[in-house]
Amino acid sequence: MRSEVKLSVLFTSEQIAAAVSRLAAEIRRDYLGKNPILIAVLKGSFVFLADLIRQLNLPLEIEFAQLSSYGRGRESAGKIKVVQDVRSDIKGRHVLVIEDIIDTGFTAAFFLDYLGKKKPASLKLCSLTDKPSRTQVKVNIDYLGLTVPDKFIVGYGIDWDERFRYLPDICAIEDEG
Ligand code: IMP
Ligand code: MG
Repeated sequence: MRSEVKLSVLFTSEQIAAAVSRLAAEIRRDYLGKNPILIAVLKGSFVFLADLIRQLNLPLEIEFAQLSSYGRGRESAGKIKVVQDVRSDIKGRHVLVIEDIIDTGFTAAFFLDYLGKKKPASLKLCSLTDKPSRTQVKVNIDYLGLTVPDKFIVGYGIDWDERFRYLPDICAIEDEG
């Protein structure tokens, strides 16, 4: 039996929607006429991606990639691997990586470096959330939605060991005991 977990709302669905609208306006302004490829990092960014593209109102393409960073539990495994790679050729294309959260920065730093070797015309990062208290590798977040405190968050696509992705709000897991 899994023990009870206490959650507290950090950002309501309305606050998230406002952040997504702001990001969409910024991205639309910068990518108009560029037919960008948005590469969403699975699984955590899928809800964000779905909301974002419907506000972009911009010709674009979608790709997915899956990276392994965290194993089970809440601590980074440290080593990052490409589990599912991008299928289309990104050489010469304008690429925007869509992330759910930048925690230590290892995953995003690795993936940007990996994609950079494929010679895109441009390469930028959009993340729904950032946890600056946990930074170990500095990555430039070109489009940032929300800054979160030093807590483990779930909801709006973001999970803890596959749990709580379905929550409409972004919640923090409160330490038990
Ligand atoms: P990083 O490599 O430490 O930046 O970790 C990035 C990845 O770890 C994210 O894409 C998430 O999958 C996961 N992660 C980091 N912090 C959290 C959190 O608070 N909640 C859920 N997943 C997280
Ligand atoms: Mg992720």
